[in-house]
Amino acid sequence: MKETVIVTLLATQVLAQAAAPATITVQTDQSGVAINPGMWGIFLEDINFGVDGGIYAELVKNRSFEFPDALMGWTERAHAGGVGKISIATETPINAANPHYLRIESASSVAFGVANEGFRGIGFQTGERYDFSAQVRARSGSPGLLVELVTADGRVLAQEKIEKLSANWAIKKTSLQPNATVNQGRLNVLVVGGGTVELDMVSLFPHHTWKHRPGGLRPDLAQLLADLKPGFMRFPGGCVVEGSKLANRFQWKTTIGPMAERKLVINRWNDAFATRPAPDYFQSFGFGFFEYFQLCEDLGAAPLPILNCGMACQFNSGELCQPAELGQYVQDALDLVEFANGPADSAWGAKRAAMGHAKPFGLKMLGIGNEQWGQAYIDRYAKFHAALKAKYPEIKLVACAGPAPEGEHFQFAWSKLRELQADIIDEHSFANPSWFFANTHRYDRYDRNGPKVFFGEFSALTDKTLSLTNLNNLGAAVAEAAWMTGLERNGDVVRMASYAPLFAHIDGWQWKPELIWFDNLRSYGTPSYYVQKLFANNPGDVTVPVNLAAADGAKLYASATRARAAGELILKVVNGTETPVNVMLDLGGATAPGRKAKVFTLTGDSALAENSFAEPTRVIPQESKLEITSPRFEYKFSANSLTVLRFKIK
Ligand code: AHR
Repeated sequence: MKETVIVTLLATQVLAQAAAPATITVQTDQSGVAINPGMWGIFLEDINFGVDGGIYAELVKNRSFEFPDALMGWTERAHAGGVGKISIATETPINAANPHYLRIESASSVAFGVANEGFRGIGFQTGERYDFSAQVRARSGSPGLLVELVTADGRVLAQEKIEKLSANWAIKKTSLQPNATVNQGRLNVLVVGGGTVELDMVSLFPHHTWKHRPGGLRPDLAQLLADLKPGFMRFPGGCVVEGSKLANRFQWKTTIGPMAERKLVINRWNDAFATRPAPDYFQSFGFGFFEYFQLCEDLGAAPLPILNCGMACQFNSGELCQPAELGQYVQDALDLVEFANGPADSAWGAKRAAMGHAKPFGLKMLGIGNEQWGQAYIDRYAKFHAALKAKYPEIKLVACAGPAPEGEHFQFAWSKLRELQADIIDEHSFANPSWFFANTHRYDRYDRNGPKVFFGEFSALTDKTLSLTNLNNLGAAVAEAAWMTGLERNGDVVRMASYAPLFAHIDGWQWKPELIWFDNLRSYGTPSYYVQKLFANNPGDVTVPVNLAAADGAKLYASATRARAAGELILKVVNGTETPVNVMLDLGGATAPGRKAKVFTLTGDSALAENSFAEPTRVIPQESKLEITSPRFEYKFSANSLTVLRFKIK
């Protein structure tokens, strides 16, 4: 009985399609609106070990012994017969921001010391070199150091000795080449020859980092970002901006300058979920605000820092700074603008120049608060707004509308921020694919003269927020793509949008889904990653109105833009159904028969298709060519697909 119904329905659909084929008319004779060609960006937050243990290529966890459990990540290790004692000392540290260091007392000449477990192990690649460094001093005897790269069960892959340790803190370095590839190795640092050695800032980096910067980024992860060609980069959060308490908030000033002076804090995601505990998750700030601006410059992405507004995460303590303390938060914002843009002889510009970048970074936007709500936020935002507009009227300010894209808090924020004439308002949505399909016309109704919109965080959830079973499948990605056509069509209102979260370590995540999954050696983009890539690689600078006629219930969505410099018309079409759809395309005579169009199609064998380490390219865009034979022509859009067509126009 059930089967009969399904067959009947399918037959009806086919008949309906045959009777009235869908049409997409790109109204190339009508003028659209100017949009931001950099509207598709990225949002980098240290969640899911995305930064420490992720894109920041440092392989040693708790390198400075500043975790509250100062030996977390470290265990005693010795060669056969080696004996001694390890302890944490604080008497004469390398500096006050980094008060703890490790003492190894080796009681025999046999190697004795510590092993570091890395971030869920350490990945070693044969053929790669690994650069070891540490602050070291000898306290007694004439010891040396033996540095080893080993497998999880202790098999030695590489070994180097460091002799002549001095009695004062000094940086010692060596480089090692493992003779095998392992995903979850360890680093041993052992004292040889007997005696007492003290260590701090123990570091191990792959020699090859992105752009060859010492202490830089994992090349595969940074390249995945570069391939997106993001228009902007939002950083550092997200909830990590807020902190569970104000003491743990992200403070940009403690993230710049020499590494050993950057002050570690607990990561907001450390103890956020009992179901996904991460007691070893801290922020070392090896990737701090200087490195952030540098990465933006390397990616050609406009920086969009988000700052704490004097409020801790309202899902946690919701702690508010005292009114008398708010001035310091506002001053931090003013100083950040000077750090980014000030001349090299200004107080904060000089700090940037001392780090190797005398030229300003060209900051043009600043976000105040992440997912704040209520009058307390409005009061604080108003203070930032007044001070920043007075000193830097050229900086566009991004205010936030809370964690949800509708509801009382959202409406309240919008009405107050409209009165305050906020430039841009940050909206967020984590919802089922059905929400994204249903909201493709959300911005058709927005006020064209009010604040602009930054859709700063979104992703389609196959289950629900915080569910551990959300999937990164094609169906979710197609829903995001459908919704993004609505953002693009309304690019005069929606100036920017970014997916969240960006990265997740397969053995260390707290939040699903994401754009990019990685382990200690490998990485891959999800179908959502390729949706972002297709949009960001094929933007435009002006919209072209689109008229779409399709049968009721058809999940067909489209947007069109013109890339004026390239002389191209770019059409994006989403088919959110399980069957291919034939569509009559009418480009209004903008292109001529005989010309060829480039086509990029993202689809898969089902809406459930996912990428994985085993099949990282199961769902990726396929490029093809389309020969134009007549001004109106039929095109078959695959089931569950995003298709981007680029036409050279007259
Ligand atoms: O993207 C993960 C989290 O979702 C962000 O930190 C927060 O802003 C949002 O609730």
